[in-house]
Amino acid sequence: MTVRKVRAATIGLVIAALAALLILLAWAWLQPGPMGFASGKRVDLTAYRGQSPTGVPIELTSADLVARGRYLTQAADCEACHTAKDGKPFAGGRPFALPFGTLYTPNITPDKETGIGNWTDAEFLRAVHQGVAPGGVRLYPAFPYASYTMLTDDDVRAIKAYLASVPAVHQKNQANTLQLPYNQRWLMFFWSMLFNSNDRFKPVDSQSPEWNRGAYLVEAAAHCGECHTPRNQIQSLNNRLKFSGGVAEGWNAYNITGDKGTGVGNWSSEELASYLSSGHAAGRGTAGGPMAEAVNLSFRHMTRSDIAAMVTYLRSIPAIQSENIPDRLADSASPMHSRGPAGNPIGKRIFEGVCASCHAWTGKGAIRAEAQLTGSRAVNDPSAMNVAQMVLGGSGAGSNGAAGMPAFGAIFTDSEAAAVANYVTARFGSVPSHIDAADVAKLRQQSNATVTSRDH
Ligand code: HEC
Ligand code: HEC
Ligand code: HEC
Repeated sequence: MTVRKVRAATIGLVIAALAALLILLAWAWLQPGPMGFASGKRVDLTAYRGQSPTGVPIELTSADLVARGRYLTQAADCEACHTAKDGKPFAGGRPFALPFGTLYTPNITPDKETGIGNWTDAEFLRAVHQGVAPGGVRLYPAFPYASYTMLTDDDVRAIKAYLASVPAVHQKNQANTLQLPYNQRWLMFFWSMLFNSNDRFKPVDSQSPEWNRGAYLVEAAAHCGECHTPRNQIQSLNNRLKFSGGVAEGWNAYNITGDKGTGVGNWSSEELASYLSSGHAAGRGTAGGPMAEAVNLSFRHMTRSDIAAMVTYLRSIPAIQSENIPDRLADSASPMHSRGPAGNPIGKRIFEGVCASCHAWTGKGAIRAEAQLTGSRAVNDPSAMNVAQMVLGGSGAGSNGAAGMPAFGAIFTDSEAAAVANYVTARFGSVPSHIDAADVAKLRQQSNATVTSRDH
């Protein structure tokens, strides 16, 4: 090739790359925001006529800054991600296994050397709203700043004040193991440009103060969409399918739109409130995995009025039907519940020997209402993902502090875990699952459980 041809080809490539970037930008611009579904004019906070949807609930408005910050830190669930298994709160080190390596959360305790004790308010605001750490270091969106960007400056400052009051932990951050090109932090500049609005919360004028409070809590603080909204190819939330189901650390975060069959449209508001504040709704299942953690560290600490506001907002989200789960739960009087499926002798042996004492032959729960298997979405999910995760990891202390479900990950082989999961869905769900040892091995990797398989 001549020099001229090479130059022409290079120019062609640059133009093609620029065009691709422009198309991507235009496409990103056309994506609805998290509150895009709601009709009505969005106004600045100062222009909203109702009571302000931001800040802390009335019970706490006269509390000191640290107490207010504590409530907001819990509502935003900073502790869940910034605490390692058996580690000190907020000292970081929790692994996030991504397809291209592992990312560890940093220490956000006030230790001056290894934590964020030296950060100014402005630096902290920039990190939480824009995903940029001091020195211009770009942060990965596994830190959900595209949601937190909606938090008001006052609320972020209150969170900082609370974090400054927790015990400082001297613990160095663990380096991530991301591969090229994912280890190039500056690339997050483009991600942010496309997917982080960097806009503070704007209430919808025509909606009630309760709805707007719910919107602020759900979208800006509790970031429900980060788990419950599916993602597109470039890992941004697809709000056209808002809340219709996503994946979180190897768990299915189910459809929580108002769809009656595959969502929570048939749940009463009381049931939703109960599930959020205690991790359990009678006859509808018990929160496990990442949801149990969110309930324990976050939602459980919210006031009744804040939980009610979140439920009001949740109910207004358009119903979307999921395709990957059956739109009916198993018939509550199914004879299969007492008889059990044939053709899975290993699953049967384990269920009868290990599980039935707590869950009862009928799956109605023998020890506590929380142990009811029938009626739960997880048990009616033919991927059996959450059932298998529950078998591997258990529920720790249980969703509300009572004796929970033990972890069997270190006891069962991958094929045993698969067999008992398949047995449970066939016996108590509407469509039997067919997972195998390889599926269970994958689930072990995706979850934060540190127990490794006995099959290997
Ligand atoms: C879903 C998990 C998750 C939640 C929830 C979360 N973070 Fe993080 N955070 C991360 C990850 C992962 C990183 C590291 C990102 C990186 O290395 O690029 C991070 C980084 C940070 C940093 C940068 C620290 C440094 O040394 O560079 C700060 C500050 C921070 N988070 C504060 C918070 C606060 C405050 C909250 C709650 C309002 C919060 N995080 C909630 C996952 C989370
Ligand atoms: C860290 C990820 C994560 C976050 C954040 C999260 N969820 Fe969940 N949620 C899950 C998972 C995973 C499940 C399934 C739990 C199970 O099967 O035991 C779930 C289950 C649920 C269910 C029960 C659905 C059913 O059909 O059984 C409801 C309702 C729910 N979440 C609502 C919410 C709301 C509202 C928020 C925000 C206030 C929220 N979740 C935030 C991961 C999350
Ligand atoms: C010591 C009692 C105990 C044993 C043994 C036990 N479980 Fe559980 N299990 C529970 C409790 C309690 C819960 C509710 C979780 C909570 O309270 O945090 C639960 C929850 C579950 C769930 C989630 C239900 C939902 O609502 O989505 C599944 C699935 C499950 N167990 C399956 C099993 C299987 C399979 C076995 C046998 C390998 C087993 N359990 C053994 C006590 C037990």
